[in-house]
Amino acid sequence: MSTKKAKIQSLSGMHDILPIDQKYFQRVFKAVEGIAHFYNFGRIETPILEDAELFYKGTGADTEIVEKQMYTFRTKGGDAVVLRPEWTPSIVRAYIEHGMQTMPQPVKLWYYGPCFRYERPQAGRYRQFHQFGFEIMGDKSPSMDSQIIQMSYDVLKEARLKNLMVEINSIGDSECRPYFKKNLMNYFKSRRSSLCPDCQRRLKQNPLRILDCKEEKCQKVKTDAPQIINHLCEGCHNHFKKVLEFLDETEIPYSLNPYLVRGLDYYTKTVFEIFENTPEGRLQGALLGGGRYDNLVKTLGGRDTPACGVAGGVERIANVLKTKELKPLKSDDAKIFLAQLGDLAKKKSLKLLEEFRRAKIQIMEVLSKDSLKSQLGMANKLGIKYVLIFGQKEALDREIVLRDMDNGTQETFKLSDIVKEMKKKIKK
Ligand code: HAM
Repeated sequence: MSTKKAKIQSLSGMHDILPIDQKYFQRVFKAVEGIAHFYNFGRIETPILEDAELFYKGTGADTEIVEKQMYTFRTKGGDAVVLRPEWTPSIVRAYIEHGMQTMPQPVKLWYYGPCFRYERPQAGRYRQFHQFGFEIMGDKSPSMDSQIIQMSYDVLKEARLKNLMVEINSIGDSECRPYFKKNLMNYFKSRRSSLCPDCQRRLKQNPLRILDCKEEKCQKVKTDAPQIINHLCEGCHNHFKKVLEFLDETEIPYSLNPYLVRGLDYYTKTVFEIFENTPEGRLQGALLGGGRYDNLVKTLGGRDTPACGVAGGVERIANVLKTKELKPLKSDDAKIFLAQLGDLAKKKSLKLLEEFRRAKIQIMEVLSKDSLKSQLGMANKLGIKYVLIFGQKEALDREIVLRDMDNGTQETFKLSDIVKEMKKKIKK
Protein backbone atom coordinates (compact mmCIF):
# COMPACT_ATOMS: atom_id res chain seq x y z
CA MET A 1 0.00 0.00 0.00
CA SER A 2 1.37 3.42 -0.91
CA THR A 3 2.15 5.67 2.04
CA LYS A 4 1.84 8.80 -0.09
CA LYS A 5 -1.41 10.59 0.70
CA ALA A 6 -3.41 11.78 -2.30
CA LYS A 7 -4.35 15.45 -2.07
CA ILE A 8 -8.08 15.92 -1.85
CA GLN A 9 -9.21 18.61 -4.26
CA SER A 10 -12.46 20.00 -5.56
CA LEU A 11 -13.97 17.87 -8.32
CA SER A 12 -13.32 18.67 -11.96
CA GLY A 13 -15.68 21.38 -13.18
CA MET A 14 -16.68 22.37 -9.63
CA HIS A 15 -15.41 25.52 -7.97
CA ASP A 16 -15.10 27.27 -4.65
CA ILE A 17 -16.43 30.83 -4.74
CA LEU A 18 -13.95 32.65 -2.52
CA PRO A 19 -14.65 35.86 -0.55
CA ILE A 20 -12.67 37.88 -3.10
CA ASP A 21 -15.05 36.80 -5.87
CA GLN A 22 -18.30 37.19 -3.96
CA LYS A 23 -18.78 40.76 -5.22
CA TYR A 24 -19.31 39.53 -8.78
CA PHE A 25 -21.90 36.99 -7.73
CA GLN A 26 -23.58 39.50 -5.47
CA ARG A 27 -23.87 41.97 -8.28
CA VAL A 28 -25.72 39.43 -10.40
CA PHE A 29 -27.95 38.37 -7.50
CA LYS A 30 -28.84 41.96 -6.63
CA ALA A 31 -29.70 42.78 -10.25
CA VAL A 32 -31.90 39.67 -10.55
CA GLU A 33 -33.60 40.26 -7.21
CA GLY A 34 -34.28 43.94 -7.94
CA ILE A 35 -35.75 43.29 -11.37
CA ALA A 36 -37.84 40.33 -10.15
CA HIS A 37 -39.20 42.47 -7.33
CA PHE A 38 -40.04 45.35 -9.65
CA TYR A 39 -41.97 43.09 -12.02
CA ASN A 40 -43.77 41.33 -9.14
CA PHE A 41 -42.21 37.90 -9.49
CA GLY A 42 -42.34 35.71 -6.37
CA ARG A 43 -39.20 33.83 -5.37
CA ILE A 44 -39.36 30.04 -5.39
CA GLU A 45 -36.83 27.50 -4.16
CA THR A 46 -37.14 23.82 -5.04
CA PRO A 47 -35.08 20.83 -3.86
CA ILE A 48 -31.80 20.24 -5.69
CA LEU A 49 -32.62 16.55 -5.81
CA GLU A 50 -35.63 15.52 -7.90
CA ASP A 51 -37.25 12.37 -9.27
CA ALA A 52 -35.28 11.41 -12.42
CA GLU A 53 -38.57 11.00 -14.28
CA LEU A 54 -39.16 14.76 -14.09
CA PHE A 55 -36.26 15.49 -16.43
CA TYR A 56 -36.82 12.48 -18.72
CA LYS A 57 -40.32 13.79 -19.35
CA GLY A 58 -39.63 17.50 -18.98
CA THR A 59 -36.21 18.29 -20.47
CA GLY A 60 -36.60 15.33 -22.87
CA ALA A 61 -35.10 11.82 -22.90
CA ASP A 62 -33.26 12.45 -26.22
CA THR A 63 -31.61 15.70 -25.21
CA GLU A 64 -27.86 15.99 -24.55
CA ILE A 65 -28.61 17.02 -20.99
CA VAL A 66 -30.63 13.93 -20.14
CA GLU A 67 -28.67 11.48 -22.30
CA LYS A 68 -25.19 12.48 -21.25
CA GLN A 69 -25.05 15.10 -18.54
CA MET A 70 -27.26 14.18 -15.61
CA TYR A 71 -25.94 13.19 -12.20
CA THR A 72 -28.36 10.31 -11.65
CA PHE A 73 -28.19 7.80 -8.84
CA ARG A 74 -30.32 5.48 -6.76
CA THR A 75 -31.13 6.26 -3.15
CA LYS A 76 -30.88 3.61 -0.44
CA GLY A 77 -34.60 3.10 -0.95
CA GLY A 78 -34.01 2.38 -4.64
CA ASP A 79 -35.51 5.59 -6.09
CA ALA A 80 -33.83 7.04 -9.20
CA VAL A 81 -33.00 10.67 -8.41
CA VAL A 82 -31.16 13.47 -10.18
CA LEU A 83 -29.21 16.57 -9.15
CA ARG A 84 -31.21 19.14 -11.11
CA PRO A 85 -29.52 20.05 -14.42
CA GLU A 86 -31.93 22.99 -14.86
CA TRP A 87 -34.87 24.53 -12.99
CA THR A 88 -37.75 24.74 -15.46
CA PRO A 89 -39.21 21.21 -14.97
CA SER A 90 -38.94 21.67 -11.18
CA ILE A 91 -40.83 24.96 -11.38
CA VAL A 92 -43.56 23.35 -13.44
CA ARG A 93 -43.74 20.42 -11.02
CA ALA A 94 -44.14 22.87 -8.12
CA TYR A 95 -46.76 24.88 -10.05
CA ILE A 96 -48.86 21.72 -10.51
CA GLU A 97 -48.13 20.24 -7.06
CA HIS A 98 -49.20 23.39 -5.20
CA GLY A 99 -52.33 24.03 -7.27
CA MET A 100 -50.99 27.31 -8.65
CA GLN A 101 -53.27 26.82 -11.64
CA THR A 102 -56.16 27.96 -9.46
CA MET A 103 -54.41 31.23 -8.57
CA PRO A 104 -54.93 34.37 -10.68
CA GLN A 105 -52.90 33.87 -13.85
CA PRO A 106 -50.23 34.50 -14.90
CA VAL A 107 -48.13 33.20 -12.03
CA LYS A 108 -44.70 34.80 -12.13
CA LEU A 109 -41.78 33.10 -10.37
CA TRP A 110 -38.05 33.67 -10.07
CA TYR A 111 -35.21 31.56 -8.70
CA TYR A 112 -31.47 31.43 -8.02
CA GLY A 113 -29.40 28.39 -7.12
CA PRO A 114 -27.00 25.63 -8.18
CA CYS A 115 -27.44 23.20 -11.10
CA PHE A 116 -25.35 20.20 -12.13
CA ARG A 117 -24.39 18.95 -15.56
CA TYR A 118 -21.70 16.39 -16.30
CA GLU A 119 -20.21 18.34 -19.20
CA ARG A 120 -16.65 18.54 -20.49
CA PRO A 121 -15.27 21.52 -18.51
CA GLN A 122 -14.12 24.48 -20.63
CA ALA A 123 -14.42 28.27 -20.63
CA GLY A 124 -17.77 29.13 -19.08
CA ARG A 125 -18.81 25.49 -18.81
CA TYR A 126 -18.86 23.88 -15.39
CA ARG A 127 -20.28 20.78 -13.75
CA GLN A 128 -21.72 22.77 -10.87
CA PHE A 129 -22.93 26.25 -11.76
CA HIS A 130 -25.60 28.67 -10.65
CA GLN A 131 -28.66 29.62 -12.61
CA PHE A 132 -31.16 32.37 -12.00
CA GLY A 133 -34.39 32.49 -13.91
CA PHE A 134 -37.80 34.02 -14.48
CA GLU A 135 -40.85 31.94 -15.46
CA ILE A 136 -44.35 33.18 -16.38
CA MET A 137 -47.04 30.50 -16.28
CA GLY A 138 -50.59 30.80 -17.58
CA ASP A 139 -50.30 33.46 -20.29
CA LYS A 140 -50.00 32.97 -24.03
CA SER A 141 -49.58 36.59 -25.02
CA PRO A 142 -46.48 37.49 -27.10
CA SER A 143 -46.00 40.47 -24.77
CA MET A 144 -44.91 37.96 -22.11
CA ASP A 145 -42.14 36.59 -24.35
CA SER A 146 -40.93 40.14 -24.93
CA GLN A 147 -41.12 40.99 -21.26
CA ILE A 148 -38.97 37.96 -20.41
CA ILE A 149 -36.41 39.10 -23.01
CA GLN A 150 -36.52 42.64 -21.68
CA MET A 151 -35.99 41.47 -18.08
CA SER A 152 -33.10 39.22 -19.15
CA TYR A 153 -31.45 42.07 -20.98
CA ASP A 154 -32.03 44.42 -18.04
CA VAL A 155 -30.34 42.03 -15.60
CA LEU A 156 -27.20 42.15 -17.74
CA LYS A 157 -27.41 45.92 -18.14
CA GLU A 158 -27.99 46.38 -14.42
CA ALA A 159 -24.91 44.24 -13.77
CA ARG A 160 -23.15 46.74 -16.14
CA LEU A 161 -22.44 44.43 -19.07
CA LYS A 162 -21.98 45.93 -22.51
CA ASN A 163 -21.93 44.73 -26.13
CA LEU A 164 -24.87 42.42 -25.72
CA MET A 165 -26.76 40.76 -28.52
CA VAL A 166 -30.07 38.94 -28.34
CA GLU A 167 -30.51 36.16 -30.89
CA ILE A 168 -34.05 35.08 -31.51
CA ASN A 169 -35.99 32.54 -33.53
CA SER A 170 -39.32 30.75 -33.59
CA ILE A 171 -39.39 26.96 -33.72
CA GLY A 172 -43.15 26.65 -34.30
CA ASP A 173 -45.54 24.33 -32.51
CA SER A 174 -47.19 20.94 -32.91
CA GLU A 175 -49.10 22.23 -35.92
CA CYS A 176 -46.19 23.37 -38.10
CA ARG A 177 -43.10 21.72 -36.65
CA PRO A 178 -43.75 18.06 -37.64
CA TYR A 179 -44.12 19.08 -41.27
CA PHE A 180 -40.94 21.17 -41.13
CA LYS A 181 -39.03 18.35 -39.42
CA LYS A 182 -39.92 16.02 -42.29
CA ASN A 183 -38.74 18.63 -44.75
CA LEU A 184 -35.48 19.04 -42.86
CA MET A 185 -35.00 15.30 -42.53
CA ASN A 186 -35.27 14.86 -46.31
CA TYR A 187 -32.79 17.68 -46.88
CA PHE A 188 -30.18 16.26 -44.49
CA LYS A 189 -30.73 12.62 -45.51
CA SER A 190 -29.55 13.43 -49.00
CA ARG A 191 -26.39 14.99 -47.48
CA ARG A 192 -25.85 12.48 -44.72
CA SER A 193 -22.16 11.82 -45.43
CA SER A 194 -21.37 15.54 -45.06
CA LEU A 195 -22.60 15.55 -41.46
CA CYS A 196 -20.52 14.89 -38.33
CA PRO A 197 -21.12 11.51 -36.59
CA ASP A 198 -23.22 13.15 -33.87
CA CYS A 199 -25.50 14.77 -36.45
CA GLN A 200 -25.85 11.52 -38.37
CA ARG A 201 -27.32 10.13 -35.16
CA ARG A 202 -29.40 13.29 -34.59
CA LEU A 203 -30.89 12.80 -38.03
CA LYS A 204 -32.84 9.84 -36.66
CA GLN A 205 -33.78 11.41 -33.32
CA ASN A 206 -34.36 15.08 -34.01
CA PRO A 207 -33.08 16.76 -37.19
CA LEU A 208 -33.74 20.19 -35.65
CA ARG A 209 -30.71 19.71 -33.38
CA ILE A 210 -28.46 19.56 -36.45
CA LEU A 211 -29.18 23.25 -36.92
CA ASP A 212 -27.61 23.87 -33.53
CA CYS A 213 -24.42 21.89 -34.27
CA LYS A 214 -21.16 23.81 -33.87
CA GLU A 215 -18.96 21.29 -35.78
CA GLU A 216 -17.08 22.77 -38.72
CA LYS A 217 -18.17 19.92 -40.96
CA CYS A 218 -21.88 20.67 -40.58
CA GLN A 219 -21.74 24.42 -41.14
CA LYS A 220 -21.77 24.23 -44.93
CA VAL A 221 -24.65 21.78 -45.07
CA LYS A 222 -26.63 23.99 -42.72
CA THR A 223 -26.35 27.09 -44.87
CA ASP A 224 -28.76 25.84 -47.50
CA ALA A 225 -31.09 24.00 -45.14
CA PRO A 226 -34.75 25.02 -45.10
CA GLN A 227 -35.51 27.58 -42.41
CA ILE A 228 -38.39 27.07 -40.02
CA ILE A 229 -39.22 30.74 -40.05
CA ASN A 230 -40.49 30.26 -43.63
CA HIS A 231 -42.62 27.29 -42.61
CA LEU A 232 -44.48 28.59 -39.54
CA CYS A 233 -48.24 28.11 -39.35
CA GLU A 234 -50.36 31.26 -39.20
CA GLY A 235 -50.65 31.23 -35.39
CA CYS A 236 -46.89 30.89 -34.83
CA HIS A 237 -46.11 33.42 -37.54
CA ASN A 238 -48.39 36.05 -35.99
CA HIS A 239 -47.11 35.34 -32.51
CA PHE A 240 -43.49 35.79 -33.59
CA LYS A 241 -44.30 38.96 -35.53
CA LYS A 242 -45.86 40.45 -32.39
CA VAL A 243 -42.91 39.49 -30.19
CA LEU A 244 -40.61 41.32 -32.60
CA GLU A 245 -42.92 44.33 -32.74
CA PHE A 246 -42.78 44.57 -28.95
CA LEU A 247 -38.99 44.30 -29.06
CA ASP A 248 -38.84 47.05 -31.66
CA GLU A 249 -40.39 49.38 -29.08
CA THR A 250 -37.43 48.77 -26.76
CA GLU A 251 -33.77 49.60 -27.32
CA ILE A 252 -32.73 45.97 -27.17
CA PRO A 253 -30.42 44.95 -30.02
CA TYR A 254 -31.56 41.65 -31.52
CA SER A 255 -30.87 39.59 -34.57
CA LEU A 256 -32.81 36.74 -36.13
CA ASN A 257 -30.92 33.46 -36.01
CA PRO A 258 -32.69 30.79 -38.08
CA TYR A 259 -30.38 28.12 -36.66
CA LEU A 260 -31.24 28.79 -33.04
CA VAL A 261 -33.31 25.82 -31.84
CA ARG A 262 -32.12 25.33 -28.21
CA GLY A 263 -31.19 21.93 -26.87
CA LEU A 264 -34.24 21.21 -24.72
CA ASP A 265 -37.39 19.42 -25.83
CA TYR A 266 -40.08 21.61 -24.34
CA TYR A 267 -39.83 24.77 -26.42
CA THR A 268 -42.60 26.01 -28.68
CA LYS A 269 -42.64 29.23 -30.73
CA THR A 270 -40.15 31.81 -29.41
CA VAL A 271 -36.59 30.82 -28.45
CA PHE A 272 -33.78 33.25 -27.66
CA GLU A 273 -30.26 33.54 -26.25
CA ILE A 274 -28.16 36.51 -25.16
CA PHE A 275 -24.43 36.74 -25.84
CA GLU A 276 -21.61 39.09 -25.08
CA ASN A 277 -19.72 40.13 -28.21
CA THR A 278 -16.08 40.99 -27.54
CA PRO A 279 -13.39 42.09 -30.01
CA GLU A 280 -12.00 38.54 -29.67
CA GLY A 281 -15.39 37.05 -30.49
CA ARG A 282 -17.64 35.11 -28.16
CA LEU A 283 -15.49 33.80 -25.35
CA GLN A 284 -18.15 31.69 -23.67
CA GLY A 285 -21.53 30.28 -24.64
CA ALA A 286 -24.79 32.14 -24.13
CA LEU A 287 -25.13 34.18 -20.93
CA LEU A 288 -28.86 33.49 -20.87
CA GLY A 289 -31.29 31.35 -22.80
CA GLY A 290 -35.00 30.79 -22.79
CA GLY A 291 -38.26 30.79 -24.65
CA ARG A 292 -41.87 29.71 -24.67
CA TYR A 293 -42.93 26.24 -23.56
CA ASP A 294 -46.68 25.94 -24.01
CA ASN A 295 -46.91 22.14 -23.62
CA LEU A 296 -44.71 21.43 -20.61
CA VAL A 297 -47.33 21.86 -17.88
CA LYS A 298 -49.58 19.37 -19.67
CA THR A 299 -46.69 16.97 -20.36
CA LEU A 300 -45.93 16.90 -16.65
CA GLY A 301 -49.55 16.14 -15.71
CA GLY A 302 -51.12 19.58 -15.29
CA ARG A 303 -53.81 21.42 -17.20
CA ASP A 304 -53.03 22.85 -20.62
CA THR A 305 -51.12 26.00 -19.59
CA PRO A 306 -49.01 28.26 -21.79
CA ALA A 307 -45.72 29.48 -20.29
CA CYS A 308 -42.44 31.14 -21.06
CA GLY A 309 -39.21 31.88 -19.24
CA VAL A 310 -35.47 32.23 -19.18
CA ALA A 311 -32.44 31.11 -17.20
CA GLY A 312 -29.04 32.77 -16.94
CA GLY A 313 -25.63 31.36 -16.04
CA VAL A 314 -24.30 33.26 -13.05
CA GLU A 315 -20.67 32.07 -13.46
CA ARG A 316 -20.63 33.16 -17.10
CA ILE A 317 -21.85 36.63 -16.16
CA ALA A 318 -19.43 36.77 -13.21
CA ASN A 319 -16.59 35.83 -15.60
CA VAL A 320 -17.39 38.86 -17.75
CA LEU A 321 -17.54 41.10 -14.68
CA LYS A 322 -14.14 39.83 -13.53
CA THR A 323 -12.52 41.18 -16.66
CA LYS A 324 -13.83 44.66 -15.91
CA GLU A 325 -12.91 47.26 -13.34
CA LEU A 326 -15.77 46.89 -10.87
CA LYS A 327 -16.83 49.86 -8.83
CA PRO A 328 -17.90 48.36 -5.52
CA LEU A 329 -21.59 48.21 -4.75
CA LYS A 330 -22.68 50.43 -1.89
CA SER A 331 -20.07 49.25 0.57
CA ASP A 332 -21.04 47.64 3.82
CA ASP A 333 -17.39 47.27 4.78
CA ALA A 334 -16.61 48.29 8.32
CA LYS A 335 -15.58 51.91 8.94
CA ILE A 336 -14.96 51.26 12.65
CA PHE A 337 -12.45 49.02 14.37
CA LEU A 338 -12.75 48.00 18.00
CA ALA A 339 -9.32 47.56 19.60
CA GLN A 340 -9.43 46.10 23.11
CA LEU A 341 -6.76 45.72 25.74
CA GLY A 342 -6.90 43.69 28.93
CA ASP A 343 -9.22 40.97 30.26
CA LEU A 344 -12.05 43.16 31.51
CA ALA A 345 -12.28 45.18 28.28
CA LYS A 346 -12.16 42.00 26.22
CA LYS A 347 -15.07 40.56 28.20
CA LYS A 348 -17.14 43.74 27.93
CA SER A 349 -16.38 43.95 24.20
CA LEU A 350 -18.79 41.11 23.43
CA LYS A 351 -21.76 43.08 24.71
CA LEU A 352 -20.60 46.26 23.00
CA LEU A 353 -20.25 44.48 19.65
CA GLU A 354 -23.79 43.17 19.99
CA GLU A 355 -25.04 46.74 20.57
CA PHE A 356 -23.37 47.81 17.31
CA ARG A 357 -24.87 44.83 15.48
CA ARG A 358 -28.35 45.72 16.72
CA ALA A 359 -27.82 49.31 15.57
CA LYS A 360 -26.85 47.83 12.15
CA ILE A 361 -23.39 49.38 12.27
CA GLN A 362 -20.68 47.21 10.77
CA ILE A 363 -17.64 47.00 13.04
CA MET A 364 -14.38 45.11 12.73
CA GLU A 365 -12.50 43.45 15.63
CA VAL A 366 -10.02 40.71 16.42
CA LEU A 367 -10.87 39.74 19.97
CA SER A 368 -8.13 37.10 20.04
CA LYS A 369 -5.41 39.75 19.75
CA ASP A 370 -3.92 41.19 22.95
CA SER A 371 -1.53 43.79 21.58
CA LEU A 372 -2.88 47.28 20.93
CA LYS A 373 -0.10 47.93 18.45
CA SER A 374 -1.00 44.99 16.25
CA GLN A 375 -4.71 45.89 16.36
CA LEU A 376 -3.99 49.49 15.34
CA GLY A 377 -1.69 48.18 12.61
CA MET A 378 -4.50 46.02 11.31
CA ALA A 379 -7.02 48.89 11.30
CA ASN A 380 -4.46 50.95 9.43
CA LYS A 381 -3.90 48.25 6.82
CA LEU A 382 -7.64 47.90 6.25
CA GLY A 383 -7.91 51.67 5.78
CA ILE A 384 -10.45 52.00 8.61
CA LYS A 385 -11.00 55.59 9.68
CA TYR A 386 -12.33 55.18 13.23
CA VAL A 387 -10.70 53.05 15.91
CA LEU A 388 -12.37 52.60 19.28
CA ILE A 389 -9.77 51.95 21.96
CA PHE A 390 -11.17 50.05 24.91
CA GLY A 391 -8.58 49.39 27.64
CA GLN A 392 -8.61 48.34 31.30
CA LYS A 393 -9.01 51.92 32.54
CA GLU A 394 -11.84 52.70 30.10
CA ALA A 395 -13.63 49.48 31.01
CA LEU A 396 -13.52 50.40 34.71
CA ASP A 397 -14.62 54.02 34.05
CA ARG A 398 -17.32 52.92 31.55
CA GLU A 399 -15.72 55.01 28.84
CA ILE A 400 -14.13 54.46 25.46
CA VAL A 401 -11.61 56.39 23.37
CA LEU A 402 -12.24 57.20 19.72
CA ARG A 403 -9.21 57.75 17.52
CA ASP A 404 -9.59 59.28 14.07
CA MET A 405 -6.91 57.51 12.06
CA ASP A 406 -6.90 60.20 9.35
CA ASN A 407 -5.64 62.97 11.65
CA GLY A 408 -4.63 61.11 14.84
CA THR A 409 -7.02 63.07 17.13
CA GLN A 410 -8.60 61.29 20.09
CA GLU A 411 -11.81 61.91 22.07
CA THR A 412 -13.25 60.09 25.07
CA PHE A 413 -16.93 59.14 25.22
CA LYS A 414 -19.22 57.51 27.74
CA LEU A 415 -19.57 53.84 26.87
CA SER A 416 -23.36 54.15 26.92
CA ASP A 417 -23.23 56.93 24.28
CA ILE A 418 -20.74 55.44 21.85
CA VAL A 419 -23.16 53.62 19.51
CA LYS A 420 -25.22 56.79 19.11
CA GLU A 421 -22.07 58.91 18.55
CA MET A 422 -20.67 56.54 15.95
CA LYS A 423 -23.98 56.45 14.10
CA LYS A 424 -23.77 60.24 13.75
CA LYS A 425 -20.13 60.12 12.63
CA ILE A 426 -20.45 57.50 9.93
CA LYS A 427 -23.53 59.19 8.53
CA LYS A 428 -21.57 62.35 7.82
P1 HAM B 1 -29.96 26.45 -20.83
O1 HAM B 1 -29.68 27.17 -22.11
O2 HAM B 1 -29.65 24.99 -20.79
O3 HAM B 1 -31.50 26.69 -20.52
O4 HAM B 1 -29.22 27.15 -19.64
C1 HAM B 1 -29.40 28.52 -19.37
C2 HAM B 1 -28.07 29.18 -19.08
O5 HAM B 1 -27.39 28.48 -18.04
C3 HAM B 1 -27.09 29.16 -20.25
O6 HAM B 1 -27.32 30.23 -21.13
C4 HAM B 1 -25.75 29.32 -19.53
O7 HAM B 1 -25.49 30.69 -19.24
C5 HAM B 1 -26.00 28.59 -18.21
N1 HAM B 1 -25.37 27.25 -18.27
C6 HAM B 1 -25.88 26.13 -18.82
N2 HAM B 1 -25.02 25.11 -18.67
C7 HAM B 1 -23.93 25.59 -18.05
C8 HAM B 1 -22.70 25.03 -17.59
N3 HAM B 1 -22.40 23.76 -17.77
N4 HAM B 1 -21.80 25.85 -16.97
C9 HAM B 1 -22.09 27.16 -16.75
N5 HAM B 1 -23.25 27.73 -17.14
C10 HAM B 1 -24.16 26.96 -17.78
C11 HAM B 1 -32.15 26.22 -19.42
O8 HAM B 1 -31.60 25.70 -18.48
C12 HAM B 1 -33.64 26.48 -19.43
N6 HAM B 1 -34.21 25.95 -18.19
C13 HAM B 1 -33.91 27.97 -19.59
C14 HAM B 1 -35.37 28.30 -19.55
C15 HAM B 1 -36.06 28.78 -18.49
N7 HAM B 1 -36.22 28.18 -20.54
C16 HAM B 1 -37.41 28.56 -20.14
N8 HAM B 1 -37.33 28.92 -18.89
